[in-house]
Amino acid sequence: MRPFLIAGNWKMNGSMKSCQELATSILSSLNSDSESVRGNEYLISPPFLYIDAISRQIEKDVVILAGKDCSASDNGAHTGDISCEMLKDVGAKSVILGHSERRQNHGETSQDVAKKAEKAAQAKMAVIICVCETLEEREAGEEFEIVRSQILTSLPSGATGQDIDIAYEPVWAIGTGKTASAEDVEAMHDFIRNILNENLDKADEMRILYGGSVKPENAKELAAVSNVGGFLIGGASLKAESFLEIGREALLGQKDK
Ligand code: 13P
Repeated sequence: MRPFLIAGNWKMNGSMKSCQELATSILSSLNSDSESVRGNEYLISPPFLYIDAISRQIEKDVVILAGKDCSASDNGAHTGDISCEMLKDVGAKSVILGHSERRQNHGETSQDVAKKAEKAAQAKMAVIICVCETLEEREAGEEFEIVRSQILTSLPSGATGQDIDIAYEPVWAIGTGKTASAEDVEAMHDFIRNILNENLDKADEMRILYGGSVKPENAKELAAVSNVGGFLIGGASLKAESFLEIGREALLGQKDK
């Protein structure tokens, strides 16, 4: 079984200095390999411009660096885009795709996500595909159908469970302080697991991450939920103490599974 993933999405926050300081604090705790953090896998996704500098700070392979998007094309005339080749060149081994903020703010479709995921897979990068429903869709009782359609359309052809993770991040829980209840998370994660099992090879190896106002106070309860294989954390990943505390709480929660 793959380890529980504690993933920090720093979004468009910080400066070179503050991001490097945040990385230094996270790395010094992880490098000490203390009992309290060992056992999870850790990933950070700094703003693109700072990945290179932070990559140079990483001495031991204690944390995975991830981009927040990638081009579906190879290097060439694509102004403003960033290729998988470039991401790998500066040390990123993973890429987050289809985040709700990209779907909403950039009109990114699940078809776009599938093309990008295919390119990332060709580049041998790990991929986190985000899926979500809005509050209106949940209130209309459409959340399962929306998530099913996003998963099936966003997965690249020939996807297996080995290098792809799914992150379920209900839009209404992102940055709002409103976490989905453990029951809501369980229902959706079990549903996603069934979709993956029905449609993919080695689906068991695909982790299903939860994201949306994860914090130290709710991490243990959420980590104990069946089919929760990690967290994608926004706000609480911007402070080393809360990011690492979530890791510790998640270890406790996994024991309750
Ligand atoms: P918050 O943890 O700030 O709700 O953000 C979640 C998220 O969007 C992570 O990708």
